[in-house]
Amino acid sequence: MTLAPLIELNDGNGIPQLGLGTWPLDDEQVAAAVVQAVEAGYRHIDTAVKYGNERGVGNGIRASGVDRSELFITTKLDGEFQGHDRAVAGLEGSLKRLGLDYVDLLLIHWPLPGRDQYVSTWQTFERLQAEGKARSIGVSNFKPAHLERLMAETDVVPAVNQIQLSPAITRTAEREFHSRHGIVTESYSPLGGSGAGLLSAPVLSQLAEKHGKTPSQLVLRWHVQNGLVTIPRTSSPGRMAENLDVFDFALDPQDLAELSVLDEGPEAGNDSDRTGH
Ligand SMILES: NC(=O)c1ccc[n+]([C@@H]2O[C@H](COP(=O)([O-])OP(=O)(O)OC[C@H]3O[C@@H](n4cnc5c(N)ncnc54)[C@H](OP(=O)(O)O)[C@@H]3O)[C@@H](O)[C@H]2O)c1
Repeated sequence: MTLAPLIELNDGNGIPQLGLGTWPLDDEQVAAAVVQAVEAGYRHIDTAVKYGNERGVGNGIRASGVDRSELFITTKLDGEFQGHDRAVAGLEGSLKRLGLDYVDLLLIHWPLPGRDQYVSTWQTFERLQAEGKARSIGVSNFKPAHLERLMAETDVVPAVNQIQLSPAITRTAEREFHSRHGIVTESYSPLGGSGAGLLSAPVLSQLAEKHGKTPSQLVLRWHVQNGLVTIPRTSSPGRMAENLDVFDFALDPQDLAELSVLDEGPEAGNDSDRTGH
């Protein structure tokens, strides 16, 4: 059984480098997926209030037979839970649905700059962390300008920024910004998301054949080798095992250069000044 290595966060906690994404699985699907993932060696599960599946994640955790302390559970609060009182109530609701007394990582799901509430939400997250209800706190879909503002106006630097990232959407400047500030970059939609077609790119099949791996493993190795934390989603036990089996080979500089043809440029991907929930 493969276990993903831990990446150290700026608060001293460790996050398993590869976890299971759970959007858009429903409660029933996700409970089964969590049990199967834990059996395959996953110790990191990514959910969110907005996914509507935290109850199922909690059921899966309890059915997995693994001690809570061995698991790393992330949830995210969306716009409905921005602002002090709402964030407190939001985490309370998540903990209740998950059946947990703390989450390992609590994220602001989107900055929603038009609402101008992410700074006060973050100050509440700082308190929730101090109370032990969230071991680590971070953000998702934040651009450097949003992070600059948080760092200027609050005390705790986010441990993680979870953003849309893959060999097609590489966000190099954002990754560099994160490393300068000790923020771990976590890639969502790491395989390009459903229906994106990334996995059928010819360069991936060529390199997969060279390494005796699959296109998905090539892409996930690219994430891992770039020091990213990543959360591919599947509900197939075979694919779960396949996606975790990326720690026994390495891409060489020539492979990485070949993969760079997939890069769609700095404007690729969503723009969180204009979208989010
Ligand atoms: N923070 C945010 O705003 C945000 C936004 C989007 C997603 N996320 C998180 O990131 C997670 C992952 O992103 P995602 O679900 O958008 O996309 P993804 O993980 O990049 O791709 C999922 C797709 O890849 C397929 N797949 C998985 N493993 C495969 C394999 N080994 N071979 C071939 N195909 C494979 C899945 O099909 P099958 O399911 O049929 O196997 C599914 O269609 C989400 O589940 C969620 O937890 C966060």
